[in-house]
Amino acid sequence: MNTPPQFLPALGHRRLAPLYDPLLRRVMREDLFKSQLIASANLAGLDTLDLGCGTGTLTLMPRRTNPEAKVVGLDADAEILVRARAKAARIGLAIPWVQGHADRLPHPEASFDRVLICLVLHHLDPETRYRSLREALRVLRPGGEVHIADFGPPRKLAMRVISAIMRHLEHTADLFDGRLPSMLGTVGFVSVAESGRFDTPLGPLVLLHASKPRHWDAPRVEMVLPWAGQGGQTDSGIALLPGTA
Ligand SMILES: C[S@@+](CC[C@H](N)C(=O)[O-])C[C@H]1O[C@@H](n2cnc3c(N)ncnc32)[C@H](O)[C@@H]1O
Repeated sequence: MNTPPQFLPALGHRRLAPLYDPLLRRVMREDLFKSQLIASANLAGLDTLDLGCGTGTLTLMPRRTNPEAKVVGLDADAEILVRARAKAARIGLAIPWVQGHADRLPHPEASFDRVLICLVLHHLDPETRYRSLREALRVLRPGGEVHIADFGPPRKLAMRVISAIMRHLEHTADLFDGRLPSMLGTVGFVSVAESGRFDTPLGPLVLLHASKPRHWDAPRVEMVLPWAGQGGQTDSGIALLPGTA
């Protein structure tokens, strides 16, 4: 018997995986926002994890221009990793592809300087999303950065209409409501900032980045409930843990 996967695959169903790359390329203009994500992350020479790498398009981007880039691709879906591996092999790039879950990463603490999370958070239910962001924080070195691209709050009328429909699909509602910055603050990230916005036929995307504090005091995170913002809020609506301002 085929047991259903314990994660939401790309496009919601494994049978749709062959459509993923054409959809992203033609409909979502992935080149534009993924290039900007890579540029803003400034990855040169840094150990980087592409969390939820899917077919590996983003994972391969830095290696195409800089063979020294050190990027690891991780995804829960072993089948999509076969596609990523094949894509890398076609262009002659050797990338470590890891099958693993975002909320229980197989890497030790402080393994990476950058974690990229592109179009993955809307696949995760709130509890898994919280644990996954906390895992991203754990595997980053102090001062390391997470760079995220995902759905964000609509600003234009057309985007409001699209997001009113899309918010009922997968776990998008919190993201369209603009809660991602406060989620990052609640988990323990600091210096949360936006680095870009893209309107797409599937809704508005926002690019955000945030840092792991240079002096990281892990137990503090355990004191807060997911998204409760117990440490208070900044003017920009970012929830802070006690002592992380
Ligand atoms: C929409 S795709 C994004 C793929 C890629 N990051 C991109 O930008 O094209 C979402 C990916 O997240 C993966 N995913 C979903 N839940 C996951 C989890 N709990 N842990 C790791 N990967 C997960 C899916 O298998 C899928 O490949």
